[in-house]
Amino acid sequence: MNIDGQAWRTIWLESDQRSVGVIDQTLLPHRLITRTLTRCDQAADAISTMLVRGAPLIGVTGAYGLMLALQDDASDAGLSHAFDQLNASRPTAVNLRWALERVRDLVQPLPEADRAAAARREAALIADEDVAMCEAIGEHGLNLFRRLAEQRPSARQNEPFQVLTHCNAGWLATVDWGTALAPIYKAHRAGLNIHVWVDETRPRNQGASLTAYELAREGVPHTVIVDNAGGHLMQHGQVDAVIVGTDRTTRCGDVCNKVGTYLKALAAHDNNVPFYVALPTSTIDWRLADGVAEIPIEARSAEEVTSMQGRVIAGESAGEIVSVQLTPDGCAGFNPAFDVTPARLVTALITDRGVATANEVGLKELYNRG
Ligand code: MRU
Repeated sequence: MNIDGQAWRTIWLESDQRSVGVIDQTLLPHRLITRTLTRCDQAADAISTMLVRGAPLIGVTGAYGLMLALQDDASDAGLSHAFDQLNASRPTAVNLRWALERVRDLVQPLPEADRAAAARREAALIADEDVAMCEAIGEHGLNLFRRLAEQRPSARQNEPFQVLTHCNAGWLATVDWGTALAPIYKAHRAGLNIHVWVDETRPRNQGASLTAYELAREGVPHTVIVDNAGGHLMQHGQVDAVIVGTDRTTRCGDVCNKVGTYLKALAAHDNNVPFYVALPTSTIDWRLADGVAEIPIEARSAEEVTSMQGRVIAGESAGEIVSVQLTPDGCAGFNPAFDVTPARLVTALITDRGVATANEVGLKELYNRG
């Protein structure tokens, strides 16, 4: 997608063909800084500190992380150590393990001398496939948005189609296009009059910082709201559809996504607002059925709750990016980073293969699995 008229991806192989470039997402929207990863531990660190984040992007970073590891040590022991190090960097998004297993299973049977090059090719392929899957999600979602917009009463046909989203499931969370934001970009480019309500998404504010940044660069009309405002907007007919991404979806259609998603799904259900979840095939965990019981939920530092990062508006330090304390000294904080929305609250899953009912039958039918 575009930043100041230039096309970007979130991750790329540098010109030396050995190191990996990424955007440092901890500094957006205030600074656009890129970083170069040359070792596996740097890739693992980039994932755990959320320099890179979003389920599909951490999968691709993991795949390139294995390449970096194999360039230094292509032995079985080196491969297994790197796999474990990367896999432990964030627990919830299944894309990470999926990508690591894909690269490991490909390189393991190869002679050590060939492993790093094979990992490089596979990581690049995973990245390209992610772009294609996200673009396909965009097309399927666009068709759905068009239908919903047309079904509105004639008095509302000239108003913008109002979409609410939570967290950042845009191109910054993937390699390009995004999952939940892909249909929004496609709709905007197709001329649909669309407006996006952007949940700020405490504690790390991925909505206020990243989604708002992306949408502004693409010229999509949007408004940031506090996380607690969504239910009120839905009650007052100001939301035509909710669309979010997911970090892991079970074969029964339960959806794990950024904490707060579940509350939005409840509010949408109560107000008859359709609630869609957009995901690439790599986010489905076919081994799991019950998301609430089985998906590991990452608990992050309490400091993310008790403090907040932002740019100083005025005074001598104006322009500096700083952290400020929100709570009394010594106050406890608890920070589950994700929650699970049960399939019964999900109107449909928008995948790269098409739209599925959020249950085992719907997903198996779409994927031709017996
Ligand atoms: O903690 P994050 O920022 O990695 O969480 C990201 C999300 O929850 C996204 O909505 C999710 O990865 C789906 S994205 C394409």
